[in-house]
Amino acid sequence: MDNDNITVVVGHSAWNDLQLIGAELEKAGIALISTVSNGADLMDQARSLGADCVLFSPTLPGMTPGLVQELLVGIDDSIAAVGLLPAGSSYAAEYQRHGMKGFVTTPLDTVQVQRVAPLVQEAVRMAAEERQARSFAPVSAEDALSILDRGGWQQQTIAVYSSKGGVGKSTVASNLATALGVLGQRPTLLVDGDMSRANVHTFLGVDIDAEPRNLFALYERVIARGNRSGSYVVQAQTLQANVRAYRGKLHFLPGIPKMHMAGLPEFIEDSDRTMDIFGEILETAKGFYEFRVIDVGPDFNLPIHWAAIQKADTVLLIVTPERTAITDVKNILPTLAREFGTLQKFRLVLNGFDEKFGISPKEVIKFLEGKVTIVGTLPYAPTETRLAINEGQPVAGQKKLAPIGEAFVRLAANFYPPLEAIGAKRGRVKKKSGLLSMFVGD
Ligand SMILES: Nc1ncnc2c1ncn2[C@@H]1O[C@H](COP(=O)(O)OP(=O)(O)OP(=O)(O)O)[C@@H](O)[C@H]1O
Ligand SMILES: [Mg+2]
Repeated sequence: MDNDNITVVVGHSAWNDLQLIGAELEKAGIALISTVSNGADLMDQARSLGADCVLFSPTLPGMTPGLVQELLVGIDDSIAAVGLLPAGSSYAAEYQRHGMKGFVTTPLDTVQVQRVAPLVQEAVRMAAEERQARSFAPVSAEDALSILDRGGWQQQTIAVYSSKGGVGKSTVASNLATALGVLGQRPTLLVDGDMSRANVHTFLGVDIDAEPRNLFALYERVIARGNRSGSYVVQAQTLQANVRAYRGKLHFLPGIPKMHMAGLPEFIEDSDRTMDIFGEILETAKGFYEFRVIDVGPDFNLPIHWAAIQKADTVLLIVTPERTAITDVKNILPTLAREFGTLQKFRLVLNGFDEKFGISPKEVIKFLEGKVTIVGTLPYAPTETRLAINEGQPVAGQKKLAPIGEAFVRLAANFYPPLEAIGAKRGRVKKKSGLLSMFVGD
């Protein structure tokens, strides 16, 4: 099989390893089509997206040797598995008995990371060969291991973006920030950076009419001070004075409350300085917040929107199950690839998916030629999301999590792995198995 056609799903939660794997696969022309943070999602994603191989950590919640075996002897296809085994651990023998085709040890060093692409290629070849020979006789599955992965996480800036309006950017940004800051108790700053229609406050139930603290006030302060001193730095106390505490460890920087304010010269004409100051805001925020989540407006010609995309460590591209939305994403990828050299920091979030809409995650990957990785899939939940807006309470912050709330927590667990366990402890409105089971066809 040509490397160009190999697709991989990764189930691992140590951020550094994930970055290294992404870069290495990209170099080898292998498409990393999805990352997941638990065993059940690994199965769902690998099968429903038609992956050729999974790279898995045995420490993922819900990961068992039996899953490796099930993937390998699937009804339609063989999906090979390559382990990412913690150095010094004793997982190898048991997983090999269940059909694991090879492994590297983590945390990855330069030697180990270079083995990843060749191992994947070899694993896919072996799995295909075994399938043809029909001589593979796996031993029976064993008890589930459910060890919380204590692998590190990366503090970072996450921009939530889409060139199309109304696809759920603000919904995703406010819920991701709530999962990290309220459920996960990580210091998190949610920035409403949508210059065309700042409305994140509505999602949080925050009344900003009488609220002096916002992005505009912060800019005014920084510019006034800069005009005197000649340097437009964002001091810690200036940032803190314009941010409001929300819940748990989540703080909120409201956006431009009235649309005409976004037309001020500071936001459109002097775009270099506007971009620089936004970068400074994020830089200063790093000192206080482990995660900075930005709701970014659709038009990336606006300096604050472009600055957010540029400065972000991860950009979540929101796509809904409509041809228009998927085509929009496809059309901006060449521009982003040209600008950033690689699409590695861009991740897809599929929002509002349901099989009745006739577009599956697999088709999205195919349409986008495997160029971007899916990092989360959120079900269609018109009632819950609208109710949440009207109640001013993000679904991820509610006492009992609806399936859409759980899906947000899982998305956030990609950034802060312990959320996987925290979300599971939370009460549920309704029990549901794998998120994508509806696409598996059972
Ligand atoms: N998973 C979902 N299922 C059903 N409806 C959803 C889902 N996610 C968001 N919505 C609904 O879609 C609408 C638009 O969502 P949202 O405001 O988050 O999008 P946006 O991309 O930020 O829009 P804008 O371009 O106006 O900023 C809202 O009514 C929201 O409740
Ligand atoms: Mg919005």
